[in-house]
Amino acid sequence: MDARLQTASLDKLASVAADALLLVVAGDNLPANLDPTIAAALKAAIKMGDFDLKAGKSVLLHSVEGVKAPRLILTASGKAHVKSARNALQAGLAACKGKPVRHVAVAFVGFGSVDAVLAEQAVLTANDAAYLYSHTKPSASKDARVEKLTVLVDKADVRLARQGLERGLAIGSGVSLARELANRPGNHCTPTVLADQARELGRVHGLKVEVLDRRAVERLGMGSFLSVAQGSEEPLRFIVAKYEGAARSKAPVVLVGKGITFDTGGISLKPGAEMDEMKYDMGGAASVLGALRAVAELKPKLNLVVLVPACENMPSGRAVKPGDVVTSMSGQTIEILNTDAEGRLILCDALTYAERFKPSVVVDVATLTGACVIALGGVRSGMYASDDELATALSQAGEAALDPCWRMPLDEEYDEGLKTHFADVANIAGRAGGSITAAKFLQRFASKYRWGHLDIAGTAWKGGAAKGATGRPVGLLTHFVLAQAE
Ligand code: BES
Ligand code: MN
Ligand code: ZN
Repeated sequence: MDARLQTASLDKLASVAADALLLVVAGDNLPANLDPTIAAALKAAIKMGDFDLKAGKSVLLHSVEGVKAPRLILTASGKAHVKSARNALQAGLAACKGKPVRHVAVAFVGFGSVDAVLAEQAVLTANDAAYLYSHTKPSASKDARVEKLTVLVDKADVRLARQGLERGLAIGSGVSLARELANRPGNHCTPTVLADQARELGRVHGLKVEVLDRRAVERLGMGSFLSVAQGSEEPLRFIVAKYEGAARSKAPVVLVGKGITFDTGGISLKPGAEMDEMKYDMGGAASVLGALRAVAELKPKLNLVVLVPACENMPSGRAVKPGDVVTSMSGQTIEILNTDAEGRLILCDALTYAERFKPSVVVDVATLTGACVIALGGVRSGMYASDDELATALSQAGEAALDPCWRMPLDEEYDEGLKTHFADVANIAGRAGGSITAAKFLQRFASKYRWGHLDIAGTAWKGGAAKGATGRPVGLLTHFVLAQAE
């Protein structure tokens, strides 16, 4: 994605050069200082009934006399809010799809100013429109896409808009990485491939990347992680990647991502319908690697460690069975009552491993439970935090990034169902409160530091016609990590 700023006042938009000039218009009236040629075309479209200024409406005009850009697109945002602006821009960019429109210049009309948040979202929206999956469908790459965005701003807005533009570019490249990794099918995105991608990220940005194999994981005593991996022929990987932007003495932020490259459920086999979607079960891993990329591009003064336990969850003659008891790296024994509750089994050992970094905070990210999809749908990620201050920081990061989450409870009463006669803890409780009891399981392994947990089962990908990875919560995570530097 190529994005840049250009100074242009509202009364001079007709001279802007691009394949399409896109105006995102807020409010019920056109501002008086809007370029008269454009205002006249707009008024004509409104008068003919082809367009009005209600949110969601848009119109595309060709070769408007006096306007340099061959296409003039108007989309109404209604409110002058960043979320409405993003939705309107999305609609405007959708109107360019399939047309030979490579370069779009966008102006925000009726917004007062283009601040950092608006500029960031403009870039992210264009970045999302520019993303195309072609790894296993090379012919798709012939489809025309928007490749370049020019954000038109007033002279006075340049400084803030530039900050937002740069943040948007970095987050955008993290989002694209996360979407790409998550979209790749299980036979193309194996634990080994994930580790190679992390190494490549390290090579490009000068990060320290270490990849542990089965023997190293055995030596660490990660009996819980190993029990999930043991059913698969595909070798496991444990990825440790470090961004060092501050003194060694500065305690790092640690992000942990669930890296199940395919979740069949194991011996507790999932039903066949839509099982293909379980290729997205490494969405947590993809998002922490995406956030790492964004952070590495922005180079803030902080230390960040990213941990990814990666393996497949498969049924086989060697697979772990319901009722088996394993010993986690923490020493706690776990009775595996359902092999499909495997995410918590690989994360718990990564959470114990995180202790060695003496972190300021650890946040894990996982497509953990179907129950979270039922609770929050695809709008907000489930968020858990060991203290109110951390919960506030995660909430605020989500709001600022337009990648929202919602806090869920961790009352000790939710622990009851995890008790068993045969081990220190069971890996499932009843059906009730499934996202919460999963979080309660993880909390037992995260007692040595401030801890946050994001259940992204509903937000990491979309099903249906627009099926694909969303890249969430790269935006939330990047904003959260950056705020730790300030
Ligand atoms: N990866 C799934 C969670 C999931 C399910 C995400 C559907 C998105 C859509 C996870 O490993 C899982 O299978 N969880 C079980 C837990 C249950 C056995 C306690 C679930 O949610 O059904
Ligand atoms: Mn599962
Ligand atoms: Zn899973």
